[in-house]
Amino acid sequence: MTPASGPGGSTRVPVSVPGLRERKQGGDRIVALTCYDAGFATCLESASIDLALVGDSLGMVVQGRASTLAVTLDDIVYHSRAVARGLDATLLVADMPFMSYRDVPTALATATRLMAEGDAAMVKLEGADWVLEIIDALARRHIPVCAHLGLTPQSVHRFGGFRVQGRSSVDAERLLADARAVADAGADLLVLECMPAELAAQITRAIAIPTIGIGAGAACDGQILVLHDVLGVTPGRRPRFTRDFLAGSGSVIAALAAYRDAVRSGEFPSAEHAY
Ligand code: KIV
Repeated sequence: MTPASGPGGSTRVPVSVPGLRERKQGGDRIVALTCYDAGFATCLESASIDLALVGDSLGMVVQGRASTLAVTLDDIVYHSRAVARGLDATLLVADMPFMSYRDVPTALATATRLMAEGDAAMVKLEGADWVLEIIDALARRHIPVCAHLGLTPQSVHRFGGFRVQGRSSVDAERLLADARAVADAGADLLVLECMPAELAAQITRAIAIPTIGIGAGAACDGQILVLHDVLGVTPGRRPRFTRDFLAGSGSVIAALAAYRDAVRSGEFPSAEHAY
């Protein structure tokens, strides 16, 4: 494969969508972080982070809102385009904001903007149920899709807050069925957020596509954290599943490299970060 030769002159082999599935098959953990601008994107690239997500978490960590619901498609396109300028080999995934995939035509228009204007290689959306039709429509048009189950922040009001999901056996069964359904609908990747580690492990074993955990234990095929949490920027009490990797690291790139190594070795997350 030809080495990347983007703005940073990286010689890393570019991370590809089919390559993610090979990583699962090879037991090679995927290291992901959120990212919102070009400067930090160059740091992710230097630390050989596999995947950068322009998440709608930007509504909370960049815009200072209480939830992700007010983030617009224009916001994500703007940040995605900036992040793309800082990346070479790291795969760029962009979030589809609240209600931007409410029906198939809207979802196709959203994904078109995220890929054509935002330079994303994959789009992410939350949920199963009515979302399956959307995943299918995107996948049929060869738009790579990352699904997202568990604590899906766009459903925060339905959940009554940012709460761990899948604790009861009924909820766990439903999440397992949803995971199988999003994979069958054509998703290429699945984020599992805030659920018992044992359930995430069961889902990871049950489906062929890679799972990326956040507050979902160590058995997922990869991990993602919000960049601000990894760098200790988040004000107030940090979520239980995060770790400040900047403390004692000396530089941002060293902190991101420490996160990368801890995920790859299986040292992070440990039991104290899991539910
Ligand atoms: O919006 C986001 O940053 C996310 C990740 C936390 C997975 O969805």
